[in-house]
Amino acid sequence: MEFEQLKAACLACTKCGLCATRTNVVFGDGAPNAEVMFIGEGPGQHEDEQGLPFVGRSGQLLDRYLEAIGLSRSSNVFIANIVKCRPPQNRDPLPEEWDACLPWLREQFRLIQPKIVVCLGRIAAQRIIRPDFSVTKEHGQWTRKNGVWFTATLHPAALLRSPSKKPEAFEDYVALREKIREVCSRTYPG
Ligand code: URA
Ligand code: SF4
Repeated sequence: MEFEQLKAACLACTKCGLCATRTNVVFGDGAPNAEVMFIGEGPGQHEDEQGLPFVGRSGQLLDRYLEAIGLSRSSNVFIANIVKCRPPQNRDPLPEEWDACLPWLREQFRLIQPKIVVCLGRIAAQRIIRPDFSVTKEHGQWTRKNGVWFTATLHPAALLRSPSKKPEAFEDYVALREKIREVCSRTYPG
């Protein structure tokens, strides 16, 4: 299966310097036939150790939001990051590391063919939606590109730092549920 081949190739990737310091490549997690894809920034320490995206505290918060609107990585979403290997000491990825890694995300899009893409936080939103995208001001807004709906919400790690923003983030997930009902056919059975 093409998706498994892509994963195997990605797990062996040495296209940028981050391969030297990673423990595991974090390819992504979820259903390869998902209609909804979530994109984060890059692995942190727990993700690097386990080889899975969003498994630390912010990941637990993300999973709770997903569950609240009938989504889960075990059934109907796919979660990935822009950069697949953890930068040392969680520094920001360098431009050349982003550029080296982006083809993996492109291939994931090509095979999964999501109908909806949700960017988690500023970095993902600015790489995927628009370079000057303001997550603070524009989260929850939708744009359509080549037949795919894009939106962004506050990064769960930002919500852990500023819990008072949780209600506005939750509104984004409620709006996401509406958009899924509108444009997806398999995500919510019945
Ligand atoms: N933050 C991210 O952006 N991605 C992860 O996988 C974990 C934390
Ligand atoms: Fe390859 Fe991306 Fe890891 Fe760099 S960050 S080694 S491009 S998978």
